Amino acid sequence: MVAVAILAAGKGTRMRSDLPKVLHLLGGRSLVERVLIGCSELKPERQLAIVGYQAHRVKAAMLDYPNLEFVEQTEQLGTGHAVQQLLPHLVDFDGDLLVLNGDVPLLRPETLKALLATHQQHQNAATILTAQITNPQGYGRVFCDGNNFLNKIIEDRDCTDAQRQNRRVNAGIYCFNWRKLQAVLPKLQSNNSQQEYYITDAVNFLDPVMVYDVADDREIMGINDRRQLATAYQILQSRIKDDWMAAGVTMIDPDSITIDDTVEIGVDATIEPQTHLRGNTTIGSGSRIGPGSLVENSQIGTNVTLMYSVVLDSSIGNNANIGPFAHIRQQVQVGESCRVGNFVELKKSALGDNTNVAHLSYLGDATVGKQVNIGAGTITVNYDGKHKHQTTIGNFSRIGSHNTLVAPLTIGVQVTTAAGSTIVTNVPDDCLAIARAHQTIKPGWRPKWHQD
Ligand code: UD1
Ligand code: MG
Repeated sequence: MVAVAILAAGKGTRMRSDLPKVLHLLGGRSLVERVLIGCSELKPERQLAIVGYQAHRVKAAMLDYPNLEFVEQTEQLGTGHAVQQLLPHLVDFDGDLLVLNGDVPLLRPETLKALLATHQQHQNAATILTAQITNPQGYGRVFCDGNNFLNKIIEDRDCTDAQRQNRRVNAGIYCFNWRKLQAVLPKLQSNNSQQEYYITDAVNFLDPVMVYDVADDREIMGINDRRQLATAYQILQSRIKDDWMAAGVTMIDPDSITIDDTVEIGVDATIEPQTHLRGNTTIGSGSRIGPGSLVENSQIGTNVTLMYSVVLDSSIGNNANIGPFAHIRQQVQVGESCRVGNFVELKKSALGDNTNVAHLSYLGDATVGKQVNIGAGTITVNYDGKHKHQTTIGNFSRIGSHNTLVAPLTIGVQVTTAAGSTIVTNVPDDCLAIARAHQTIKPGWRPKWHQD
């Protein structure tokens, strides 16, 4: 049986923020949420978060995780004190307890699994995650024998100069035999330079304790300030992009691309420079996205071309050609093989298959059939200052250039509207609608001043 406890009670002073540190976002998810997701693959029986600073806010942000139990640490007297708060909650628990820092968001589930496996295989009292790093400043130093059995952890500020030379550090991630930890937790004392109760002291009381070195020390990076948050974002990004490239996605200049880990991309898609894929987005295989595009919470079909455009909360059918400079937002559905071109805005609209809106147009609250052509510079007048109104355009219709379609409006099937028309009343099927002033020619006419 495994329980997980996440230490998330600290304020995070160095973030210089009103927001508790663990709620800061890293690639669209809070730090604590990332920690929680990282350990969910272990399928723990219990998940507990120790909260303190702005506990109500941390709890409110974690409502999507109904199985998460909250334990309050009203005064933050150190990491050992934080773990002591678990005592009344885990009285009857019999198994292993994984303790994670809420500010270490890049740990891979495989690392946690390996830590747990080492712990269980050797039946250790505790197993701690360590790394050998070039700049160990600030971390607790870990001293052990040649067989990875721990002798002692000493906090950086409590080390002698000689001890500080040790480059093996404590990642702040531990696996404990709960029954054994339970017995030593009450013995912790705060007679150290910070006058705090250290969880590392509990480790020093236990035996046998082993260390497990993480292969990639970037995983154990703790976030204490915004510089580190930005560095963690870069690490996360390179991880996500490396995975997609390994899965068959081409990236041109990956350093200029950002992709959330909630995005799915098909094989042989190409992501061009300066492109950002966010939220619940899928990109179909063979599609070419970018350069210079933002796609958020949208479904892009296969073999789509999307260049210098913004697509938000919408879907684009297979083989569509979008941009440059299209803005598609609010539940737009673009059908297959559509063309949405230069300086076109679509809002809350649907386009049937093979429909074109190629230049300089705005369609809002419109339902457009298949094989429709919307002439350049066409605008739906969907807003009367108070309400939004619908426009419907039937299949095979051709809207002339520079039309103004005043909604609510229904244009039938196979309709042609003349260029420059302002269409204010419904148009039946299969006809030509002309709604513009007649052109008048006055032969020989001159301006008055010219006649004098
Ligand atoms: C801790 C370890 C150190 C390790 C380092 C790794 C101790 C004594 N030291 O040091 O060996 O190298 O992590 O990053 O444990 N927290 C609470 N309640 C508290 C205090 C802290 O919940 O009363 C939480 C914080 O929110 C944070 C985590 O515990 O998520 C770690 O606390 P922090 O003060 O950052 O410990 P470090 O000094 O970094
Ligand atoms: Mg820390």
